[in-house]
Amino acid sequence: MILLGSDHGGYQLKAAIIEFLAQRGISFEDCGTDNGNSVDYPDFGIRVARRISEGTAEKGILICGTGIGMSIVANKFPGVRAALATDNFMAQMAKEHNNANILVLGGRVLDPHKACGMVAAWLDATFEGGRHQGRLDKITHLEQELRCR
Ligand code: RB5
Repeated sequence: MILLGSDHGGYQLKAAIIEFLAQRGISFEDCGTDNGNSVDYPDFGIRVARRISEGTAEKGILICGTGIGMSIVANKFPGVRAALATDNFMAQMAKEHNNANILVLGGRVLDPHKACGMVAAWLDATFEGGRHQGRLDKITHLEQELRCR
């Protein structure tokens, strides 16, 4: 199950991705926003990233105008690895090397066709583990160290 969240800048692209996921029979939950009215991206990024950090959901897709704001907020949460991608290669690497549990996209950067291809690339890729796991472990240790302060 994939959690989806966007602000107004990502709302239209989120709608296209929802259609794509539905066509593929992939389950998802839309955490808003529900229309193109101006909202604050942290409110929706937090809804998605909190659940992934707590372990009640495994993965998510966040979309704002550029993807930058959503990346900043989502990566505040321990255990969240939110990757902003702008092409297929980055989306694939986000899973293979970074085991990204949130894919972040820019609604004002990507056309829907390209974005759906990126979602597929991220979903279909497999984390390679090995040396990449060691690097993620270092990030986990850092999170633990910073939480103890
Ligand atoms: C909203 O206008 C815009 O700032 C937001 O969607 C996002 O791009 C922020 O990073």
